[in-house]
Amino acid sequence: MNHSTSASLPTSSNLLTELRDRVDREFQAKFSRPATVIAAAPGRVNLIGEHIDYNDGFVLPMAIERYVVIAAAPAADASRPTATVYSTNLQETTQIPLGNSQAATLGNWGRYLEGVVAGFAEQGIQVPPFDAVIGSNVPHGGGLSSSAALEVATATLVESLTDHTLEPLQKALLCQQAEHRFAGVPCGIMDQFSSVFGQADHLMLIDCRSQQYDTVPFDADGISVLITNSNVKHELSGGEYAARRNECDQALRKLNQNTWRNVSLEDVQNASSSLSDIELRRARHVVTEIARTIQAAEAFRDSDWDAVGQLMYASHESLRDDFEVSCRELDQLVEIASELGTESGVLGSRMTGGGFGGCTVSLVRDHALPEVIQSLTSRYQSATGVTPSCFSSRPALGAHLIQPHA
Ligand code: GLA
Repeated sequence: MNHSTSASLPTSSNLLTELRDRVDREFQAKFSRPATVIAAAPGRVNLIGEHIDYNDGFVLPMAIERYVVIAAAPAADASRPTATVYSTNLQETTQIPLGNSQAATLGNWGRYLEGVVAGFAEQGIQVPPFDAVIGSNVPHGGGLSSSAALEVATATLVESLTDHTLEPLQKALLCQQAEHRFAGVPCGIMDQFSSVFGQADHLMLIDCRSQQYDTVPFDADGISVLITNSNVKHELSGGEYAARRNECDQALRKLNQNTWRNVSLEDVQNASSSLSDIELRRARHVVTEIARTIQAAEAFRDSDWDAVGQLMYASHESLRDDFEVSCRELDQLVEIASELGTESGVLGSRMTGGGFGGCTVSLVRDHALPEVIQSLTSRYQSATGVTPSCFSSRPALGAHLIQPHA
């Protein structure tokens, strides 16, 4: 995937327009007629509140200016109940069954679409045959929710093709189910929720228990959100994610509670003799991360960047030591960022997303961005031998339809 490491970062609205034009043109070339509808849905970055969306916690993500875009039109040949979908990134075509699939029949990226279509079919909304072209500039496998963006873009397209608009929360939940049942990832609600509800210039403080959110204005104040892709992905991530969920559930049962929202750090400490060492540390992460996220939302509202920065570093340490979802490369990136420190314009940094590779998120003073990117890149490169990719993003608009060019 393309992302820039150079100091002159492409502006986001251009990125979306470029992608839209590319996908639109490709549709015309592939299917010899214009697309009638184009849907877009963004990836996300989480500022704080990691691995607690499936623990009734709070999370503080924003949608990013990186999108999955799908251009489509009703199928030329409507006799078969399939969608013919071409991926410009992978340069391959796949046929999506449009019946009521109970599980994935496709082994590739098509299963995300299959899962979403199945979710609509379960609600009695039958999707008509269609042709489509997909393009994405959400880095794949970087922990920025490229799969949620694909699901939510598909759902947005299907809403338009069927003339059935879902409630936004229902749409996020339908996409989460597609991820659970068709991709086998027992994820929380953060990614799909962010892709649906994202708002320009706002973070979202999502209460994952009530599934409601408050917006937290973040119109930057001279501060950029810098996303640094470690460009490593340790493959144990799938199984480890489910293992963390189980460990948390087990710890909660031993604490005799049915929601982490009723558990204090003191409760965890008092129960230390009945919890295994692993359960104790997982519990400590959940409880402290919930508290940090609430504090961070306040600190963002107050533009208290020192507090935000400290909370981000503390979150990283907790994910590294107690939750054990970081890795050497992510730790390196955060360490370099913290060494650069506020005097070089870095306010805070942490791993973001599921972990075991993927990205860090840092808050950096705008004027310092080019130098910070340069230092991070060269120091990370000499420590690990891997070249990272950096880009900055403002909080972006969630899923929406865009006009075909024609
Ligand atoms: C993945 C999941 C999310 C969330 C994060 C960790 O991105 O899809 O639901 O659990 O990991 O915060």
